[in-house]
Amino acid sequence: MIVLGIETSCDETAAAIVAATPQGPRILSNQLRAQFAEHAPFGGVVPEIAARAHLDHLDALIDRALAEANVALAEIDGVAATAGPGLIGGLIVGTMMGKGIAWGTGKPFVAVNHLEGHALTPRLTDRVDFPYLVLLVSGGHCQLLVCAGVGLYTRLGTTLDDSPGEAFDKTAKLIGLGYPGGPAIEHAASEGDPHRFVLPRPLKGRPGCDFSFSGLKTAVSRLVAVGGLDTRDTADLAASVQLAICDALIDRTANAVDWFCRHHPEGTALVAAGGVAANDQLRSRLAALAKAAGLRFVAPPPTMCTDNAAMIAWVGIERLRLGLVDHLDAAPHPRWPLDTCAAAARSGGYTAA
Ligand code: KG4
Ligand code: ZN
Repeated sequence: MIVLGIETSCDETAAAIVAATPQGPRILSNQLRAQFAEHAPFGGVVPEIAARAHLDHLDALIDRALAEANVALAEIDGVAATAGPGLIGGLIVGTMMGKGIAWGTGKPFVAVNHLEGHALTPRLTDRVDFPYLVLLVSGGHCQLLVCAGVGLYTRLGTTLDDSPGEAFDKTAKLIGLGYPGGPAIEHAASEGDPHRFVLPRPLKGRPGCDFSFSGLKTAVSRLVAVGGLDTRDTADLAASVQLAICDALIDRTANAVDWFCRHHPEGTALVAAGGVAANDQLRSRLAALAKAAGLRFVAPPPTMCTDNAAMIAWVGIERLRLGLVDHLDAAPHPRWPLDTCAAAARSGGYTAA
């Protein structure tokens, strides 16, 4: 089975061709165009500019993906496009393109939940079996999810305010480091003393699996307001921020691992997904946590942690294998929680392929 995947939910335009072969999944092409340059002058993603950039570049990316994969449109078995959650303009561009190709070629269409793309990535990259526990941490998301099967997701916790990606990005901006903040803080932190500044670890030690990061931003803004950060201070503050965010993530994930191991003794793995999962300190501490609990630790390669279309094509494959197809009138959803019954959240419903 060969599926074309399309991703346009935020500020990355992406198209990919993924095949399910008897030897396992194969990514035949994974094309991506980031929009940093378009949004940089505004200091953040401008939805209208993002939608127009998707419109300008998506068809060329799809052509490039097909060419690199050496696959003709007639040879694909389905089209999968992100239908939410995300910025509505981009979602409309991607789903309309996907539906158009599906209609023109007579192939089935799959309206994909972006979060499901992140959650199922370890099955594409590392062939992880259900059930497993996912820490999904990015600029837009923060969730602990039990993945028990395709479409069977239970959210154990989420953030009460900011995502950890936002915490990295906003504190980096306050400290005067660049965007995106996660890699900038990680780089600056390598030279710093993580214990120099005392920063809050919201909810640490409390039961449950929810997160909170807004207090960290406030604490950093107070420190910065004192003024005059030299190179040493900047490195120490970056290291202190990174440690605080990782401490909070590890504390909440430890509670989720405990719950997961008690309720799913057959559980296979702890998985890290989303852009923040590219962080080295977080990865190594999650690996230790998983090991102590007797779970395998899986973190997809960083390029598969951040937004991409291969993960969307993969959801298409997983769903088409189960006969889950969407109607061409399936609407994009700017908000689309993964943990409620996925079928109920869709406008088009499912039909057997
Ligand atoms: O998954 P992603 O590409 O897009 C969203 O869905 O948001 O994640 C982007 C986020 C940004 O907030 C960025 O600062 C963060 O992931 N990030 C990192 C690292 N690389 C990217 N955070 C911490 N350490 C990193 N190495
Ligand atoms: Zn994402």
